Amino acid sequence: MSYIEFRNVRKVYRTGDVEVCALNGCDFFVNKGELCVIVGQSGAGKTTLLNILGGMDKLTTGEVFLDGREISKLKTKELATFRRDNVGFVFQFYNLIPNLTAYENVEMAAQLVKDPIDCDMLMNEVGLAERKNNFPAQLSGGEQQRVAIARAIAKNPKLLLCDEPTGALDYQTGKAILKLLQQLSVTKGMTVVIITHNSALTAMADRVIRVKNGKVISNVVNESPVNVEEIEW
Ligand SMILES: Nc1ncnc2c1ncn2[C@@H]1O[C@H](COP(=O)(O)OP(=O)(O)OP(=O)(O)O)[C@@H](O)[C@H]1O
Ligand SMILES: [Mg+2]
Repeated sequence: MSYIEFRNVRKVYRTGDVEVCALNGCDFFVNKGELCVIVGQSGAGKTTLLNILGGMDKLTTGEVFLDGREISKLKTKELATFRRDNVGFVFQFYNLIPNLTAYENVEMAAQLVKDPIDCDMLMNEVGLAERKNNFPAQLSGGEQQRVAIARAIAKNPKLLLCDEPTGALDYQTGKAILKLLQQLSVTKGMTVVIITHNSALTAMADRVIRVKNGKVISNVVNESPVNVEEIEW
């Protein structure tokens, strides 16, 4: 069995009388330690897929396995424990805690685990050492995004899930962040999943997954992934 496996996963959202099938029989796998890039049009189901993988949301039918464990069977409380111990999540819309400073947002995540990554070092790595005492409302969108990234990494998670992690960043800052993510995968053996609209980033991935209309339409190993520095877009 692979490290991550989705088997025939369906997710139906109901809003009043309207049903939206966000995932419609989604099958794929990812191996441990891989850096995986997920691409697909807006509305294809990428965030839904990542939320279910990270235990943020429950599927309607199907099975999801992580490290041999069927996480789709877990109850809400078990799922919360699973998330705390295993998953770092960079949300598409950051979800920072407004009444904690940038540093405290990161520190709080680090305190959840036994073996965190040093918060000061991380604030430096994401270029926010000077702004660490600001509250989220006192930060630019891109700075908030970098706090969200530092927070997810601080847990030193086995699985790092990133939903459009560079969406709000300029070219150079985005590149620096992607370099950090690639390093985590290479040096720590972290399994990293990145959702992006930028198909140039597929060149940095060990595995590229394409999502369309709630299905995985291709899942391809990249035999020669390149360093982010070598990619231009
Ligand atoms: N909570 C929800 N309630 C109802 N419908 C939802 C909900 N979340 C997502 N959807 C719908 O499910 C579909 C897939 O949404 P999802 O957010 O997974 O797309 P996405 O691929 O991440 O798109 P984007 O690239 O724009 O972020 C969309 O049609 C969306 O409107
Ligand atoms: Mg999305």
